[in-house]
Amino acid sequence: MDTKQTVLDYLAQHEGQWVSSKEIVTTLAVSRTAVWKAIKQLQEHHYQIDSQTGKGYLYTPNATLSQTVIAQQIAPEWTLEVHDQIDSTNIRAKQLAAQPQMTPTVVVANEQTTGYGRFGRHFYSPSQTGIYMSFLLPIGERQLNPGKLTTGVAVAAANAIEQQYDVDVQIKWVNDLVVNEHKVAGILSEAIADVESGTISSVIVGIGINIAPSDVVPAELRRKVGALTSLTQLDRNKTVVNVIQAVTALLKNEDHHAIMDEYRRRCFVIGQRVQVRIGKRELDGVVQTIDDDGALQLQTKTGRQMVGAGEITKLNLKDGGYRG
Ligand code: BTN
Repeated sequence: MDTKQTVLDYLAQHEGQWVSSKEIVTTLAVSRTAVWKAIKQLQEHHYQIDSQTGKGYLYTPNATLSQTVIAQQIAPEWTLEVHDQIDSTNIRAKQLAAQPQMTPTVVVANEQTTGYGRFGRHFYSPSQTGIYMSFLLPIGERQLNPGKLTTGVAVAAANAIEQQYDVDVQIKWVNDLVVNEHKVAGILSEAIADVESGTISSVIVGIGINIAPSDVVPAELRRKVGALTSLTQLDRNKTVVNVIQAVTALLKNEDHHAIMDEYRRRCFVIGQRVQVRIGKRELDGVVQTIDDDGALQLQTKTGRQMVGAGEITKLNLKDGGYRG
């Protein structure tokens, strides 16, 4: 981790408090000049850090999603759109996918009015407490596999979240990120077909992350849905940047087996007894593993079954616990 990031993390741990330069120098074992340079760079990146002689530095997280702050910290190949309110970032990405000169794009929103998840379910997307983003990825000469992309983005997002928040992120097959047995993020991939050639022209990967608890989410859902922090001062720009950087690295990583190894390490359904819905069919069995194509290998009473797509509807944990 570079000094800038270490200093920011330290200030973020003391958000709302003045921290002296001496304290940072001693705790992080870096020089006074390095601290000063790091603070200057962070201020240039629009992090709100006040400095006062005799008091030191005061970091106040920026509550507003900012196009400028995010754009400065992501790779230049991304086109970025940041919206305060939108129907759905996936819908917006689909509109952009229909344009002739399509480039890799990230659409980010503070709030979605008609955000949706798998099986067309409504995805609650309240303002200020979450982030909602969609990656539009033209296929081009890269052979992007939508299934592999979804599992890869789950791993990338889990890493990005753990970098910023003090949580352990697990994955519930196929695309839910879970913290303390509550869903904190969902991922939805959609392939866009080119009607004339009959091939896939681009893939949209949408991800919605609940950062802080929200009163807007109905009480019955709150039993299942969690958040990453109870802090009210959030730096969602940083989370967006972390996720975009992690996805950028993922797209450059050719070692899909290593990505899937991490997916399996995080995936808590392996070894558990589950019920899986595949269309109108329900299957009961014990998850043996998840293969490199992201398919569930299920040991049922009648033999081993491979499930490429579906949804875990019931999960009986070995210790007798249950998550449905
Ligand atoms: C799921 O849990 O079923 C997937 C949820 C995906 C939600 C994200 S939020 C950003 C993007 N825009 C949408 O309308 N959906 C995805």
